[in-house]
Amino acid sequence: QDKVLVWYAKHQRDLPWRKTRDPYKILVSEVMLQQTQVDRVVKYYRHFLMKYPTLIDLAKAEKVELLSMWQGLGYNNRVLRLQQMALEIVKRKKGFPQKYEELLELPGIGPYTARAVLAFAFNQEVPVVDTNIRRVLIVELGIDEKIEVKELEEVALRCVPMGRSCEWHNALMDYGALVATAHVTGVESLSKQGVFEGSTRQVRSSIVKYLLEKKKATLKELREKFMHEEFDAIVAKMMKEGLVKENEGMLML
Ligand code: ADE
Repeated sequence: QDKVLVWYAKHQRDLPWRKTRDPYKILVSEVMLQQTQVDRVVKYYRHFLMKYPTLIDLAKAEKVELLSMWQGLGYNNRVLRLQQMALEIVKRKKGFPQKYEELLELPGIGPYTARAVLAFAFNQEVPVVDTNIRRVLIVELGIDEKIEVKELEEVALRCVPMGRSCEWHNALMDYGALVATAHVTGVESLSKQGVFEGSTRQVRSSIVKYLLEKKKATLKELREKFMHEEFDAIVAKMMKEGLVKENEGMLML
């Protein structure tokens, strides 16, 4: 604890979501940070919160505007999930959930994000274990890389200093990002992002981008433009997720 906290006191990164305890803003930052690098997120985070400063603003937002703001962050369905969460929290009329179980009941939020919100917004003593934190714990405590996630979370929980969960987890993240990096430690991450070129992800992202520009297109036009073996299945999944809809033979957002 001392090693990481002392280092952090001197070297911490100045990141905008660390200047707030507003759970809504923390949630926005965590969803953005799920699959996108910190440097890229900063600008989007500020812009997004200027446009949607509260949960209610997000709940009322237009889908096309949300997708438009999200361009460049990737994984567009994340912003729709974020809005779903906002709608559900507003609907419940009980304020922002402050319990792990309540957060998990929201659509589209997983254990990691739920705990990150509890730690960063409410300073609750819960284990937050992302790729960076996992690596720091493994290296600093000399743990076998093959450790199960559940077990590592138990270790992580025992490490949280009383009353300093928010600071502690920020410190671990920075220490992992700047000192105990993957390159330096050689600890492999559990999930690696696959190549974008030719992927389902690329087709999905191209369809959203195209529809933001053209408003609507026929399935045939899109199929020919973004050739992919699984094109029809990709579109079907996007429809199911509410990312696109079909109307009189035309696909639109
Ligand atoms: N990645 C996920 N959450 C983060 C945070 N709060 N600070 C830096 N990187 C993060």
